[in-house]
Amino acid sequence: MVGYWRTLLLSGVLLCSLLSALGQTGQVSQSALQNDWTSPEFELPRKHLSNLTPAEQIGQDLYRHYCTICHGMTGQGDGFNSFNLATTPAKHADSARMTNRSDSQIQKVIKEGGTALDMSPLMPPWGAVLTDRQIVALSTYIRTLTKQEDGKK
Ligand code: HEC
Repeated sequence: MVGYWRTLLLSGVLLCSLLSALGQTGQVSQSALQNDWTSPEFELPRKHLSNLTPAEQIGQDLYRHYCTICHGMTGQGDGFNSFNLATTPAKHADSARMTNRSDSQIQKVIKEGGTALDMSPLMPPWGAVLTDRQIVALSTYIRTLTKQEDGKK
């Protein structure tokens, strides 16, 4: 009699663990949900991530949307529209040029256009399109373009 109940109990336990194992199929472990994204297993994807700050990333997005047509993807002044312009769009990647500019000068040119600092009117004013905060994000991103260029040397 005791043997019968023991067998019944054992098979019950086995069945329960089998069912719970089946129930967990396809679910990630709890520990995976509290992941540390700096651990070594993520080294490769991390290499592909941008190491820009949030402000620089916002600036990059705006730059790609509004500015690369003239200034080019990497700020070389070689966007597809640059070849139609009498004045070459500024090379934002040129550190010799850009280190001479203060952040407020860069922001002023973006907001009021090239003529605000005696540059070509072919640099349009963006004050009616972009907010001041967007302009600050853009000037922050423009600084990273010279850093990228210097890093290549
Ligand atoms: C229609 C083409 C065009 C577009 C679009 C354009 N630019 Fe320009 N930009 C120019 C030209 C041309 C100059 C160079 C003016 C000069 O050298 O006299 C210039 C110059 C500048 C300068 C001055 C660089 C310096 O030497 O101080 C900044 C900053 C700048 N642009 C930022 C931007 C930003 C940010 C955007 C996007 C929001 C943008 N530009 C979009 C054509 C353009």
